[in-house]
Parts: sequence; C-alpha cells; structure tokens
Amino acid sequence: MSLKPTPVNDELYEYLKMNFSSEDDFLHQLLIEAEHEGIPNISISQEQGLFLQFILKTINAENVLELGTLAGYSSITMARALAKGSHLITIENEFKHALFATRKIKEAGLDDIIEVQNSNALDFLNIYKPDTELDFIFVDADKPNYARYLDLLTPMLKIGGIFAADNAFAFGFVASSAPERNPEDVKSITGFNKYFRSHPQYFVSMVPVGDGIIMGVKIK
Ligand SMILES: C[S@@+](CC[C@H](N)C(=O)[O-])C[C@H]1O[C@@H](n2cnc3c(N)ncnc32)[C@H](O)[C@@H]1O
Repeated sequence: MSLKPTPVNDELYEYLKMNFSSEDDFLHQLLIEAEHEGIPNISISQEQGLFLQFILKTINAENVLELGTLAGYSSITMARALAKGSHLITIENEFKHALFATRKIKEAGLDDIIEVQNSNALDFLNIYKPDTELDFIFVDADKPNYARYLDLLTPMLKIGGIFAADNAFAFGFVASSAPERNPEDVKSITGFNKYFRSHPQYFVSMVPVGDGIIMGVKIK
C-alpha cells in the first residue's frame, strides 16, 4: 500500500493508451474528421472510454442517456458495450455537432441503438418521459447545469442505476482557490461534486480517470 496515489506520468499514460483503451481506427479517424470540420477535440479520453464500457457491461445497461454528444465519440464508445436491442439517447444543442455525430453513428452501424436529439438538454428533459427507467446516465455538457440535470434525471433512473458526470476534476482545478481556466465552470463543478457527494439517494465515488468522472449508484 502507498500513502499517495501514483501520478499518471507520460510513460504510464502511454502504457494506459496501449493496453487499456477503447479507441480503434474508426474512432481515431472520427476525431480527425471532426477537427477538420471545426468541431473541438473535447471528447472523453480513450481510457475513460474503456472505463465507461466496463461499467456499462458490469450493470448490463440497456437504457442509456447522454447529455453532450459533440462528435459522437462517447456515444459510439458506450453503444459498443451495450447488448443488442439497447437504446442510447444522446442530446446535443449544436446543430453542426448533432449532424456530424448522426452521420458517424450511421457509418459505425449503430443507428439502431443510438438516437441523437438536437436539443437543449434542459428543454429536452422538461418534456422527456422514458418508456423504461434508465440504467445509466452520462452528463458531459454545460457544467453550471449539472445539479439541475441530477435533480431532473434522478426520478428517471432505476435503483441500482448509475449517474456519471465528466470533468469532475474541473480541468485539474477542482481543488484550486484561483483556477486559471474557466473559473465559472470550475466553481460549478466544485459545487456539483459537493451536492452529488452528499445526495441522500446516491452512493457516490470519484474516479480519477481522464479529467475525473464522478459517479453515483442510486440506492433509494
Ligand atoms: C465535452 S462535449 C461532449 C463530448 C462527448 N460526450 C464525447 O466525449 O464525445 C460537450 C458538448 O455538449 C454540448 N452542450 C453544451 N451545453 C449543452 C446543452 N445545454 N444542451 C445540449 N448540449 C449541450 C456542446 O455543444 C458540446 O458538443
């Protein structure tokens, strides 16, 4: 046992990418094409992808909701870990992103599983009524609304289902009193982490993968 966690230096990160990645040539190419089309490269990282797939398989997820599609990288990654007949809805407010993702999802042969909704997440959630309770929710959109997303989505998540949110380390600044990047987002994330961690309906953990994923299993 060690007192401090092992920092992921460049050498370790290469090892992770070589051995514990969910990225294949298709996803690699997707990122290149997205960049050519002016879509920012802010997708989940490849080892985060494998970790999300691990969780989805562990809980046998069939009904998944994602907020923040971007180019479809995480949707495709997650859908690949779902059983046939599963459903993943992903919400994206930028038309250009939604259009690109829809095209790539079709190319990936996953359009029978993934449904892209070009909508503002809050507008969508205010009218959304899933046919079946959700097994897994992945939030990777506008940081100031994470707590509202949690409040709106908790009643739609089954007991034993998981709510996960990306960038829980706030680009590395979550513990900083004077963040140099996106101070408003950092403040929102810090507030959200605290709110989620003490939520009476969840058992919550912080996973130091990528920029941190905070995840909670719904217990009541
Ligand atoms: C970090 S990116 C998502 C990355 C994606 N999950 C992946 O890993 O491949 C965030 C995305 O959320 C979208 N977004 C931001 N605010 C939103 C909102 N209120 N409703 C829907 N989408 C939103 C942005 O346009 C952007 O495409």
